[in-house]
Amino acid sequence: MSLFDLTGTVALVSGAASGMGRAASLALAEHGADLLICDINAEGLRETADAICAIGRRAVAVSCNVSEPEAIRKMFATLDTEFGRIDFLGNFAGEGLLGNPEDISLEKVHQVFDNLVFGRFIMCQEAGRRMLSAGRGSILNIGSLASVSSLGRGHIAYSMAMGAVVQMTRELSTEWSGHGVRVNSILPAQVVNPGLLKRMMADPSLEEQWLRGIPRGRLGQPNDIQGLVVLLASDASSWITGAIIAMDGGNLAANAGATMRHAASPPLQ
Ligand SMILES: NC(=O)c1ccc[n+]([C@@H]2O[C@H](COP(=O)([O-])OP(=O)(O)OC[C@H]3O[C@@H](n4cnc5c(N)ncnc54)[C@H](O)[C@@H]3O)[C@@H](O)[C@H]2O)c1
Repeated sequence: MSLFDLTGTVALVSGAASGMGRAASLALAEHGADLLICDINAEGLRETADAICAIGRRAVAVSCNVSEPEAIRKMFATLDTEFGRIDFLGNFAGEGLLGNPEDISLEKVHQVFDNLVFGRFIMCQEAGRRMLSAGRGSILNIGSLASVSSLGRGHIAYSMAMGAVVQMTRELSTEWSGHGVRVNSILPAQVVNPGLLKRMMADPSLEEQWLRGIPRGRLGQPNDIQGLVVLLASDASSWITGAIIAMDGGNLAANAGATMRHAASPPLQ
């Protein structure tokens, strides 16, 4: 536990009402961190805050739309008043809007960038200033498989934005890690969430299609991110910065034409 002990630290996690942001928040609390959590889903946020308090840690819940820079700045003012420090920032909030590349409106593309790129960037800027003054801190920007490979099926705006997120991580790591502020990204493959479930219901062939790209043989679950988040928030990762870490059941390692071996596969002839 001591390698990963977060006692006395403060984490800010966006997108904490659901999925990976919620799972990350609970893991941070279990390892001793107090949290400021934000989301646009007030009810989900309250549930996460209650779960953090049940673990015995402090949670301040703030309704904040990360597409609105002023709302982010206001939230950081609350952080200053409530906690007066920030040790870890987890940028989880956000989602893509789908559209075919040949006719998606620029307005929709802007909306995705406001959310995933500028939202994450302003959060990094606000956290970064405070961490630079303190001479320590760790930032996690959630990217996606779409940061480094294409998804198709209308993901043009999402992929362009997630590509920018990993470059943001590399630039910030290069600028800031000499001053004690580490910046990393995790790139998840398909992790079950309400949006994914809806798309799987609408097209029952999708799950099988995704699994063909995942040698590990299952979709991700929100809790799969917990170990990496605790590692990146703790001093155990003090030499890890600028890293773009796949969390994808082996997806990026496999060539699209690769053949996977399962327990039931016949032996090689
Ligand atoms: N689930 C996946 O397969 C997958 C894969 C790769 C990357 N991601 C990325 O990981 C992140 C978390 O995804 P998840 O699977 O946990 O999704 P989720 O839908 O379970 O949770 C996302 C949370 O973000 C909140 N949110 C959305 N827009 C917001 C905004 N503008 N301001 C504040 N909060 C907002 C939602 O209310 C929700 O609680 C997202 O950025 C997503 O794009 C997800």
